Amino acid sequence: MAINSSYDTILVIDDNPTNLEVLHNALGSSGYDILVEMDGLNGIEQAKNHSPDLILLDVQMPGIDGFETCRQLQADPATSSIPVIFMTALTDTSHKVKGFQFGAVDYITKPFQQEEVLVRIQTHLKLRRLSLKLEQQNQDLEQRVQQRTAEVTKTLQELKRAQLQLVQSEKLSVLGQLVAGIAHEINNPVGFISGNLKQARLAMNDVIDYLRLYQTKFPDPDKELQQVAAELDIDYLLDDLPKMFMSMQMGVERICNISTSLRTFSRADADIKVCADIHEGIESTLMILQHRLKAQERRPDIQVIKNYGNIPNIQCHLGQLNQVFMNILANAIDALEDMSQDRSYQTIQHMPNQITITTEFIDDERSVIIRIADNGIGMTDEVKQRLFDYLFTTKPVGKGTGLGMTIAHQIITEKHKGTIAVSSKPGEGTEFVITLPIE
Ligand SMILES: Nc1ncnc2c1ncn2[C@@H]1O[C@H](COP(=O)(O)OP(=O)(O)OP(=O)(O)O)[C@@H](O)[C@H]1O
Ligand SMILES: [Mg+2]
Repeated sequence: MAINSSYDTILVIDDNPTNLEVLHNALGSSGYDILVEMDGLNGIEQAKNHSPDLILLDVQMPGIDGFETCRQLQADPATSSIPVIFMTALTDTSHKVKGFQFGAVDYITKPFQQEEVLVRIQTHLKLRRLSLKLEQQNQDLEQRVQQRTAEVTKTLQELKRAQLQLVQSEKLSVLGQLVAGIAHEINNPVGFISGNLKQARLAMNDVIDYLRLYQTKFPDPDKELQQVAAELDIDYLLDDLPKMFMSMQMGVERICNISTSLRTFSRADADIKVCADIHEGIESTLMILQHRLKAQERRPDIQVIKNYGNIPNIQCHLGQLNQVFMNILANAIDALEDMSQDRSYQTIQHMPNQITITTEFIDDERSVIIRIADNGIGMTDEVKQRLFDYLFTTKPVGKGTGLGMTIAHQIITEKHKGTIAVSSKPGEGTEFVITLPIE
């Protein structure tokens, strides 16, 4: 557009050579670039090709007249913004009115008053420059508004996300405290039972030994003793009592283990990293997920294969890492359960559901690698790409929120400066590989 060139370009459309010459001389000597056409159609063509800054248009011409030319210029978006000034005979008032109706911005009368023509042209060129500038500013403004709106929307989304994660981690930390509290409370009575159980067992053994001795020293007790012994089935009882104690002992040990796992799992370490044993974290998570790994009506146990390497303790937020293990393992169990849906118990027994956990220490890179693999349904490329996206889930409402892997990703990459990668194919299972640097 001619707005940026040093000369404004004026297109003159008139069939009268004398008029053309007069205008050409007057305008040319005032520093304008002049284009000339002698009929409407060529004028329109020229306007399209050269986008002049202003058009001077005669009313009466052979072919299409000035009004029709003006109408066509106005109708085309490429030329509609070019100001048009009609040239009419002094006396012809109706032409002036009609010209305005067809979209002209002004008129000049013939014979031309050179001064007047130049002033009018200058005014309209200035108006056009101003309106183009205004339009440009409007566009800039609109763009800026759009940009700002996008920024605000993005910030709002980030805020929402941060808020949700805050709520989530707040919930988890409250839950963690609760669990740790309960585990702690259980610990005392369980310790009490387990301590006494040992003493009781020793005492019971003494009593049994004593009774046996009695039996050997007095092999023929009187009738009443014989009768009570028969009623109590004393031999069976003496045999069974130690077994009962054994199973009580085992039960208490299991409670002890669960309570230890609960405390390890919910380790309150939100702020500072502590040196911790990753295997202990994985074990406590598995213990908590035990009920989901066990055999069910439609499928046998999920086998957990552990290939634990020799890894050092590392500085970490173990409670948060356990959250990561929990999310990955829970997803693996879901994937295995999906896989089991249309397979019979026997088929699954033949090709068992498995979760394989491998850990290794890479000395060169000073990092620890944890691989968690399942032979469940696997993922399509599309799911794999969106896996870590906030609120992305393929599970039905109520079953998945789509937060698990987002949180896991954040804990590994932001909190521990590690990486988490996935490889998976539909029907071939999934493997997550976590790399944690050793500080
Ligand atoms: N081991 C896996 N095998 C197959 N698909 C998986 C596996 N792990 C994750 N996915 C896919 O990734 C999606 C996102 O997982 P993510 O843990 O973030 O959310 P979710 O499990 O759906 O819900 P929740 O917030 O309760 O964890 C899952 O819906 C599932 O489609
Ligand atoms: Mg999940």
